[in-house]
Amino acid sequence: MTMQTVVYPGSFDPCTNGHLDIIARAAKMADKVIVAVLINSSKTPLFTAEERVALLQKAVADFDNVEVRSFSGLLVDFMKEVGATVIVKGIRAVSDFEYEFQMALTNNALYPDIETLFIPSNKDYMFLSSSIVKEVAKYGGSLQGLVPEKLIPVINKRLNP
Ligand code: PNS
Repeated sequence: MTMQTVVYPGSFDPCTNGHLDIIARAAKMADKVIVAVLINSSKTPLFTAEERVALLQKAVADFDNVEVRSFSGLLVDFMKEVGATVIVKGIRAVSDFEYEFQMALTNNALYPDIETLFIPSNKDYMFLSSSIVKEVAKYGGSLQGLVPEKLIPVINKRLNP
């Protein structure tokens, strides 16, 4: 049995191979995956929402059941708008769990039909985060293996011109 539409929300500033791994695995389980890029993050993003969407679109171009969109406001309102009730999140370590659990319970309190599906990260990407990618690129380190190959020039151009 496959699920219908699932939503994978995040800041994706920028997307990493860890995000791509979660997207690929969700795309196997669901008919459709909507990657939802948060516009109004409390953190100040390096890439604009349009740029983050464009990077993701480039990265998921080979998947025919993955769509990239942006949203602002509450995630539950976006879920209602797209008619989805399952949120997918990746968990790298126990340290991720506390905040993710809090968000899952909040979303469920706001919209009881919502279920959050936690996917354990691939062990190869446990250390990886958007912040780590930015740090490495800023000081001229190689992004090989950290982000999709075709995004490397775009990310480097911004962080280490
Ligand atoms: O990649 P991130 O920064 O961990 O993603 C966090 C995200 C976008 C999933 C979360 O901040 C979010 O859903 N924000 C939208 C606002 C919202 O719905 N808040 C209530 C749930 S905590």
